[in-house]
Amino acid sequence: MSDRWYQKAVIYCADIDTFADSNGDGVGDIKGLIGRLDYLARLGITCLWLNPIHPTPDRDDGYDVADFYNVDPRFGNLGDFADLLHQARDRGIRVIIDLVVNHTSDQHPWFQSARSSPDSPYRDWYVWSDAEPEDRHQGMVFPGEQAETWSYDRTAKKWFYHRFYKFQPDLNINNPEVREEIKKICAFWLQLGVSGFRMDAVPFIVEQTEPGNPDSPKDMEFLSELRQYIQWRQGDAVLLAEANVEPEQLKEFFGDAGGSANRIHMLFDFMLNSRLMLSLARGNPEAIIDALRDTPKLPVGGQWATFLRNHDEVDLSRLTAEQRAEVFAEFGPDENMQLYGRGIRRRLATMLGNDRRRIELAYALQFSLRGTPVLRYGEELGMGEDLTQDGRNAIRTPMQWSLAANGGFSTAAADQLVRPVITGGDYGYERLNVTLQRHDTKSLLSWFERMIRTLKEAPEVGTGSCTHVDVPASTGLLVHRADGATGTVLFLHNLAPEAGEVDLGSLYPEADFPNDVLADQEYPEPGKLDKLTVGGYGYRWIRLCRKP
Ligand code: NOJ
Repeated sequence: MSDRWYQKAVIYCADIDTFADSNGDGVGDIKGLIGRLDYLARLGITCLWLNPIHPTPDRDDGYDVADFYNVDPRFGNLGDFADLLHQARDRGIRVIIDLVVNHTSDQHPWFQSARSSPDSPYRDWYVWSDAEPEDRHQGMVFPGEQAETWSYDRTAKKWFYHRFYKFQPDLNINNPEVREEIKKICAFWLQLGVSGFRMDAVPFIVEQTEPGNPDSPKDMEFLSELRQYIQWRQGDAVLLAEANVEPEQLKEFFGDAGGSANRIHMLFDFMLNSRLMLSLARGNPEAIIDALRDTPKLPVGGQWATFLRNHDEVDLSRLTAEQRAEVFAEFGPDENMQLYGRGIRRRLATMLGNDRRRIELAYALQFSLRGTPVLRYGEELGMGEDLTQDGRNAIRTPMQWSLAANGGFSTAAADQLVRPVITGGDYGYERLNVTLQRHDTKSLLSWFERMIRTLKEAPEVGTGSCTHVDVPASTGLLVHRADGATGTVLFLHNLAPEAGEVDLGSLYPEADFPNDVLADQEYPEPGKLDKLTVGGYGYRWIRLCRKP
């Protein structure tokens, strides 16, 4: 299979509850999202990743699922969802959904049954311990919000394991029935027409948890099993995994059967994400160059998913303490902007001081680095955060569509909204919204549309190789190239405020009428490539040559 759609995709992540409300109840819904598909099509995205869509007590923004076979009634029903899939497909947009099967909500009927009796058929679907595990206070993912990973259940009179919040008991992957059920869930949604899954918390799904052993073994074979299963059900379905692990473990998640990935197709590149943040904070690309160098070579079909912001905090845990402190100082200096001691709960525009040059630079860079770009809703407008909201909710405010009340998100009374819309100041909907930016050819939204169109004419980024061009250049300048079956594109990104230059004359023999296809400003023709200049925080995408 040479044509893998996910390698050329542009993925957009939206949360239905904060995107568009069609019935005025204050909560976004599927019909509202359908009404905005034309907007997404115009933006140029080709794949929509929806954060959890299932019925939920909503104590972790839907990542606490109470029924895997339905949609949250606040969003609509399965018929609406099928319509969404149809309407999206009509516009060339695929849909992938979050698959959250490391745990369930404690309100899920499986857990309710499991805890109620030792004879429950679901008892062994969860992870229990009779005695208090010694590692009870280890491995918490949300320090400050979560005190332990084992909690006592009075009804079951046992301890149960929960890698995340206490209301999210872990499913027992050792149980063959659980494994079958996960496959059945995938099969159900594939049958409805989704194109794959963003798999939540994959390193924890495969954990064969043993009480008292904080380093329990992992059953990676489950991922091979699942991959094979979904591929038989739907040949072009993809798995996009969240696996924020040490670099040397990453390849295990892709799997490698005779050189081909046989587990996960795509992994979010967390390593690159934190190095990007560090480089942007320093105005120096060294950390990105290190990341490109350290990236393990992927098996055939394996792909990175790049991102700058997602629905969680910017996770800086894989940087050293000093590096983390540097990023905090630049992008999240107030304690209130930081989270879990490791991250920043802000959007990109605010972190970059709303400096348009830097925002464009950062996104031009992300979208041109190897892999498939993922964009979080609202980033295309430069939306900000609401730090009065708890934790990660700061960056989960409603989409800002227009100047209408509630930014056009909902006609409900402002105090009835799922979360307040950002108002006032530079980031409030009065100044920052889709309608205003749509009418302005110089807006960030218009720039994103142009940038994505240009990327689509450079399939080398997603399908080819990505190499740092190691030549003497000004300190802030990163030069890299993407080579693929269709040709070569050169990328110059200047992370520093002062102008930079580089001599790429050595590449001229490969060139065939090189020209700027995207740049922050008009530059002189690239000529023989020996005198290339880039403005402060500027960038140039240069088509070096095209192959027929
Ligand atoms: C990772 C998700 O990205 C995050 O939002 C969620 O809280 C945890 N997994 C638990 O499901």
